[in-house]
Amino acid sequence: WVLMVTAQTPTNIAVIKYWGKRDEKLILPVNDSISVTLDPGHLCTTTTVSVSPAFTHDRMWLNGQEISLAGGRFQTCLREIRSRACDVHDKEKGIKINKKDWDGLHVHIASFNNFPTAAGLASSAAGFACLVFALGKLMNVKEDQSQLSAIARQGSGSACRSLYGGFVKWIMGKDDKGTDSLAVQLADEKHWDELVIIIAVVSSRQKETSSTTGMRDTVETSLLLQHRAKEVVPKRILKMEEAIRNRDFTSFAQLTCTDSNQFHAVCLDTCPPIFYMNDTSHRIISLVEKWNCSEGTPQVAYTFDAGPNAVMIARDRKTATLLLQKLLYTFPPNSDADLNSFVLGDKSI
Ligand code: DP6
Repeated sequence: WVLMVTAQTPTNIAVIKYWGKRDEKLILPVNDSISVTLDPGHLCTTTTVSVSPAFTHDRMWLNGQEISLAGGRFQTCLREIRSRACDVHDKEKGIKINKKDWDGLHVHIASFNNFPTAAGLASSAAGFACLVFALGKLMNVKEDQSQLSAIARQGSGSACRSLYGGFVKWIMGKDDKGTDSLAVQLADEKHWDELVIIIAVVSSRQKETSSTTGMRDTVETSLLLQHRAKEVVPKRILKMEEAIRNRDFTSFAQLTCTDSNQFHAVCLDTCPPIFYMNDTSHRIISLVEKWNCSEGTPQVAYTFDAGPNAVMIARDRKTATLLLQKLLYTFPPNSDADLNSFVLGDKSI
């Protein structure tokens, strides 16, 4: 027999960024972060996990290619979920697995991203969140979403925020073991549904410096990071929570853009410096800044993760349509900028 569970998880985009770990093994961050989870179906990972007595060892395929599970973060997530597995009884298939049987059973995991892996579109976030969720379902784990988020965190920090929809905060926590470093939902997906997220895929190439390596170098060398984590982010988190609560787009956009820019400033302050954005990214920032300035109030917020792709959040659908027009005018299909497509990360317009 084979027992199977399939789950789909969208990625999330941080509006107050996580950058820097205080514990690399447990993935404990140096500051809180806040993100918005995309609507299901857009940028997401689909994962099928299966268990069978015929499987001789744990195996995993990512986008059709088998990957090694040896000693990595996948193993950690698998081990954590397995240790919480409960009895499973599938009456229809006549399958009964007792809690104690799980240690002797192996799983096969097949995961697909519907967007470029490791191109700075937070693929690891959707990936680990989906893995933990699917394994939790398969093994009938009783933990709630927040507790599951603390497991997904150990796969990839940003993954803990994809266990929830809407606006999500990853609380950095104080405990050395990381028990209080988990995600909580600030507002559900209906709270501010006028917002439209547009992602401009500037490059779908794999990023040159992985988040993990980049963060390590930043923690070791950047003084600006210490200032950011201690002085700037704690105040910004409070303001961002208030902006989200009040659906205050002006504050939301200002905080989002400033935080993205400070994150990239911290990357530049790292030795050796890390460049995630390129000329096209900078042109997109100028376009949005000029537009916001000419309107008197922000219409669009931008944010960039560990890659050149732009994530833009428009205040409503009308603005999103205008934004697309402006982008297409500035970067016509045959322009020299290597901007190849726009992905609507939210409801289509
Ligand atoms: C820039 O979660 O990919 O997207 O914990 O090392 O796996 P690891 O890093 P990861 O870093 C994401 C960094 C970011 C900002 C964010 O999502 O908050």
